[in-house]
This record gives sequence, C-alpha cells and structure tokens, in this order.
Amino acid sequence: MRQTNVEDVTMGRLAGKIAIVTGASRGIGRAIAMALAKEGAAIAVNYRASESEAKRVVEELNALGAKTMLAQANVSNGSETREMVQRVVKTWGRVDVMVNNAGITRDKTLRKMTDEDWFEVINTNLNSVYFGVMAVMPLMIEQKFGRIINISSFVGQAGNFGQANYSASKGGIIAFTKTAAIELAKYNITVNALAPGFTLTDMLAKVPENVQAQIKSRIPMGRFGLPEEVAKAVLFLAADADYVTGQQINVNGGVYM
Ligand SMILES: NC(=O)c1ccc[n+]([C@@H]2O[C@H](COP(=O)([O-])OP(=O)(O)OC[C@H]3O[C@@H](n4cnc5c(N)ncnc54)[C@H](OP(=O)(O)O)[C@@H]3O)[C@@H](O)[C@H]2O)c1
Repeated sequence: MRQTNVEDVTMGRLAGKIAIVTGASRGIGRAIAMALAKEGAAIAVNYRASESEAKRVVEELNALGAKTMLAQANVSNGSETREMVQRVVKTWGRVDVMVNNAGITRDKTLRKMTDEDWFEVINTNLNSVYFGVMAVMPLMIEQKFGRIINISSFVGQAGNFGQANYSASKGGIIAFTKTAAIELAKYNITVNALAPGFTLTDMLAKVPENVQAQIKSRIPMGRFGLPEEVAKAVLFLAADADYVTGQQINVNGGVYM
C-alpha cells in the first residue's frame, strides 16, 4: 500500500486553501476532491443523499492528511447551497476554490421527455452552478481571490441523441462561465468550465453496454476517460492557471474537437 506522507500535503500547491466540491461522494467529484487534497487543500465534501459514500470519501481524504468536512446540501436549491457555504465559512473562514460538479442525467428523446425530466436536469446541473457562484461570490470578492471551476460536458458543445435537457444544461454552463469570468476578473476571481468526454463513473455505467460499445468506437483515443484524468485538469485550473479565465478545457479523448 502507498505510504502517505502528511507533510507532503501541508507543503502542496494548495496548502492553506479551502475548497468546496459539489457532488463529491463518488465519480468525478470524488477524484477532484482527492486531487485537490493531495496538494494541501481543505475539502468540503458536498453530496445530496449518498451519505455513506460521502463519509467514505471523507475517510479517504483524512487518510491523506487533509482537513475535511461533510457538506450536505441539495445544490439545485439556492437556500440550501447558501447555507452550506455559510457552514464552510463558519468552520474555516473562507472559500478559495469552488468546484461546481454535481450533475445528473434523465436521458430521453424529445418525443418522450416530460417537463419534469427537463426541469430536474436544468435545476440540478445549471441552476446549481448559478447558486454555487452566487453563494461564494461575495466572499471571493472580499478576499480578492477565487478559483471557480464549473463541470460542463462535451455534450454541451456537440449535442447528443437523447440528451436535449442535459446538453442545454451543459451548454448553459459554458455561456454562464464566460459572463461570470468577464464580471469577476477584476477581483482576481477566475471562472472556467471543464468539459469531460465519456468518463468511467456510475453516470456512464447507466448507459446500456451495446450503446457504450458504439460510443467507444467514436472516441479517437479508443477508450473512456478516468475521473482522475478530469481531476488533473481541475487541479491545473485551481492551482496553476492564474491568467486563465472564461475558458473551456476539454478532457475528452478527442471525441469532440
Ligand atoms: N461521467 C461522464 O461521462 C461525464 C461526462 C461529462 C460530464 N460529466 C459531468 O461530471 C459531473 C460528475 O459526474 P459523474 O459521472 O461523476 O456522476 P455520478 O457518478 O453520478 O456522481 C454525481 C454526484 O453528484 C451528486 N449530486 C447529484 N445531484 C445533486 C444535488 N442536487 N445536490 C448535490 N449533489 C448532487 C451525487 O450525490 P448524491 O448521490 O448524494 O445525489 C454524486 O456525488 C456531472 O456534472 C456530469 O454531468 C460526466
């Protein structure tokens, strides 16, 4: 087993920084939390319902020597999101990095889609980004520092059969990111979007195997991405990308260029 040196964490590129990762109980959010923690950030692990999975992530982060807290909230709800951010501030005094990652799919063709499918996805994927940014913005303006990273998808750039609600939510994130970046740049707050391609998580596991095989044949690199590969790009935006704002970084194996 890999030995963890707690001193490494306190010397990392994000030492002393406070990060909130929404939807961090598994998949891409969990990998982002681990990557930021390995560089010294304290992590608030947000989740909506998967408490035991979120607690497991907290244990994994603690084993790295990271400061952590559980931060339950349904981020499709503005007041729950604001209260969650307030709990983090009460505990640690500031928020330096906000990763708006929580997301869901409710895939159906337009002919079968209900209003409920539409609103659930827009509320969870797009409105949550608005609520997350609005909740941390006053603090980050006061601090004159912030790194906001919004997890979009290549589907928001290219569209995808059966994902009108999802593609609209993810395309909306890209447009929102650019405007927020323009408005917040003068406060030393960068706002960027990250657009993963098909990545091996529970979300992708829901896609039937025959469809997964068809998808793979469209990916120039011939394989699905790993959550850790997405997390590396988030770490770059959080720790190193001081003069990068309003951008979309694609981590997609070439599926969309
Ligand atoms: N996997 C892919 O192929 C892929 C590709 C492109 C983009 N993405 C994007 O990457 C992000 C993460 O996806 P993933 O594949 O890691 O998904 P996942 O494995 O299904 O995990 C989703 C996470 O979001 C949380 N969540 C969902 N609704 C929430 C809400 N209302 N409030 C708070 N947390 C909520 C879940 O926690 P609970 O279980 O507690 O609700 C879980 O921690 C999403 O935005 C997704 O759209 C994924």
